[in-house]
Amino acid sequence: MKLSDKLKERYRLVETEDGSITLFSIDFNEACHSTSGAVEETKLHYLRGCEVKEGSRILEIGFGLGIGFEVTREHLQDFCFVSVEIDGELVDWAIKERGLEDQRLQVIVGDARETLKNYQGEKFDCIYQDAFSPRRNPELWTVEWFQMLREYSKPSVRLSTYSASTSIRKSLIEAGWSVQEGAQFGPKRAATIAGLDFKTSQEILDKLERSPAVALTEANIDEYRKIN
Ligand SMILES: C[S@@+](CC[C@H](N)C(=O)[O-])C[C@H]1O[C@@H](n2cnc3c(N)ncnc32)[C@H](O)[C@@H]1O
Repeated sequence: MKLSDKLKERYRLVETEDGSITLFSIDFNEACHSTSGAVEETKLHYLRGCEVKEGSRILEIGFGLGIGFEVTREHLQDFCFVSVEIDGELVDWAIKERGLEDQRLQVIVGDARETLKNYQGEKFDCIYQDAFSPRRNPELWTVEWFQMLREYSKPSVRLSTYSASTSIRKSLIEAGWSVQEGAQFGPKRAATIAGLDFKTSQEILDKLERSPAVALTEANIDEYRKIN
């Protein structure tokens, strides 16, 4: 697998511990996956965390190099996969170089905060919230963002993410979601699962209440960037 000369200015290919490849983004100063294993992380957080099954309608936040789609396609036959991605060159490369052209896949290119507003398709069963971390990519972890995702969700939706940050859990709750602990992967990463058909446990609510961290909003992301 090779990056084009243009992409090489912004990304590096990195091998992870399960033998799968991820990308390190120079602009975001972060890798797309845990170095403990890109494919294994994806299976745990998204296939399992979102309880995907035949017939699922899946929305992925951040297409990256397409591992979310690739792993889903190995697991399911009948599904619909919509992904949002700001980097069109990366999408073109991933689809061609990694052989991901597929009728079940739709990638919407542009800033997801804008592009998703125009989305007219059916609501989703599963959301893979796989933006870069809240520190590096706070605009995709705000109350406003999670409110928008809620509008595109079925009542039984599962939104899963690798992050267990207090701020993002507060953002989800302020946006009307309930949260529960997700499975941990690798040395550092805990996780969060959110839904609309269960209640957040008192234990999690108490923990969030004790923390001074605040929910992320469009109004405070510049400040959040400065202190993180
Ligand atoms: C962690 S990577 C996604 C990895 C991907 N799910 C995979 O399995 O290969 C996060 C992606 O989010 C994209 N992204 C960051 N900000 C965005 C935005 N505002 N709108 C759409 N995509 C964005 C980045 O370009 C990056 O490709």
